[in-house]
Amino acid sequence: MQLSFGFMTENHLKLLVVGSGGREHALVWKLKQSPRVEKIYCAPGNGGISAIADCAPIAADDVEALADFAQTEKIDLTIVGPERPLTLGLVDRFAERGLAAFGPSKAAAELEGSKIFAKQFMQRHAIPTAGFEVYDAYAEAVNHVNESHIDFPLVIKADGLAAGKGVIMASTPAEAQTALRQMMGEKIFGEAGRRVVIEECLTGEETSFMVFSDGEFVQPLAAARDYKRIYDDDQGPNTGGMGAFSDDDLLSRATRKLILDRIVYPTIHGMAAEGRPYKGVLYVGLMLTSAGPKVLEFNARLGDPETQVVLPRLESDLLPVLEAVTNETLFKTELQWSRKAALSVVLASAGYPGPYEKDRLVTGVDMAEEEDNVVVFHSGTRRESDRYYTNGGRVLAVTALGNDLSAAIIKSYEAVNKIHFDGMHCRRDIGARGLRRIRMPDSIHD
Ligand code: AMP
Ligand code: GLY
Repeated sequence: MQLSFGFMTENHLKLLVVGSGGREHALVWKLKQSPRVEKIYCAPGNGGISAIADCAPIAADDVEALADFAQTEKIDLTIVGPERPLTLGLVDRFAERGLAAFGPSKAAAELEGSKIFAKQFMQRHAIPTAGFEVYDAYAEAVNHVNESHIDFPLVIKADGLAAGKGVIMASTPAEAQTALRQMMGEKIFGEAGRRVVIEECLTGEETSFMVFSDGEFVQPLAAARDYKRIYDDDQGPNTGGMGAFSDDDLLSRATRKLILDRIVYPTIHGMAAEGRPYKGVLYVGLMLTSAGPKVLEFNARLGDPETQVVLPRLESDLLPVLEAVTNETLFKTELQWSRKAALSVVLASAGYPGPYEKDRLVTGVDMAEEEDNVVVFHSGTRRESDRYYTNGGRVLAVTALGNDLSAAIIKSYEAVNKIHFDGMHCRRDIGARGLRRIRMPDSIHD
C-alpha cells in the first residue's frame, strides 16, 4: 500500500498523539518543539500532557472514535503510542478513511501481538533468538517441561498481549507446570495464554534497540536500557519499567553493527518479503549473550520508559522523520543525536506494582524542572486547578541530561529529591550498573 499524504511540505500542522503515559508525554513534549506544528491533541492524555496539549477523553483503543476525532479536527498526522490500538488495526482503519497515522499495520504489528508469530518469523529468517517450542495443548506442554533433558530455568510466555506480564520464569519442572496451569488452564492472561511459547533462558545484559522503518529503510534511535524490576539490584516483581538511561557507551560500534546486520535488516526485509511491510518504530528487546545479541521480544512501538530518555537526546525535529516513515521516504532523513547521557527515574505510588493508592497531591514538580536539562514526564497524574494528583501506579518519570552518565544520575536524583507525594517510592540505582561498564573506545558518532 503506497500512501502519500500532503503534509510533507506544509506548516501549521495538527497532530494527535494516542495514549496516556510517560511515553506519550515525551512525544507531545518533543513534537511541540517542532516549528511546523500548530496544535497537538492527545487522547486520552494525562495531567502533565493536559498542561501542554489539548486532551480529548477518548480511550486509546477506541479506534472508530479516534478516527472520527481525527476527521472532525482535520488532524494531519496521528501518532500511536501503545500497542493495543496497533494490533486492533488503527493504522489500517485510518488509511481506509484517508487519514494518516504513524505506526505499523495490524499485519506488521503481529511481531508484538503474537509471540508465536514473532518466534516462527525469526526461525524462518535465521534471526538469533532463544530456542523455543510452541504449545496449544496443556498436557503436551506439561510433558515437555517434565522431559529429563530440559534445562532450567526456562521461560514460559503467553502468546498474546498481556500488558507486559505474560512472561514467567520457571526454575523447576513444578514451577513450570504451575505457570502452564495458570496460563492455559486458569487463563490468568485471558485468551493471550491459550497458546504458549516455552523457551530457553538467556543470560547477559538487556538492551532496548529501536529503529524507525518505512518498510524498506531504517534509521536507528539511540539505544537505551530499562529497569523492569521494582527494587534495587533487579529484585522483586516486574513492573512497567522503573527507569531507564541512554548514552553512547551502551553499545559498542561492533555490537550495533551486529544488531543491525543480523537482526534489524533481516526483520525489516523479512516482513516486506512476507507481505507485511513494517512501517513505524520497531523495538527490539535484546539480550547481549556471550554468543552475540539475541532477540527477547519485538514491540511494535516506542518503549516506555525508553522514550523518556531517547527523545531528549534527539536534536533533530521529530516531525520530519515521522512523515518520512509514513510517506516511505526515510532514506532522505538524517537524525542528529546529542552526545549527552539521559537518565529517567520513575516515581511510583504506594503499593505499585500491586494495587496502589491514588489521589495524592504531588508537589515539587515545578521546582525540579527549574534546573536546566531536567524534564518531568507524567505517567499517571491528573490536573485539577493547576495542581497535580497521583492517578496511576507509575506517576512521574524524572529525566535529566548530563555530560556523562554520572552527571545525569546526579541531576535526576537531585530533581527526584524535590518531588513529594504520600507513599512515593523509586529505585535508587538507576544507571548504577552502567557506571561499572568499561568505557568503549567507539561510539555511535564515529
Ligand atoms: P518479554 O515481554 O518477552 O520481553 O519478556 C519480559 C522480560 O522477561 C524481558 O525483558 C526479559 O527480562 C525477560 N525474558 C524474556 N525472555 C527471556 C529469555 N528467553 N531469557 C531470559 N529472560 C527473558
Ligand atoms: N520498556 C519495555 C516496553 O516498553 O515494553
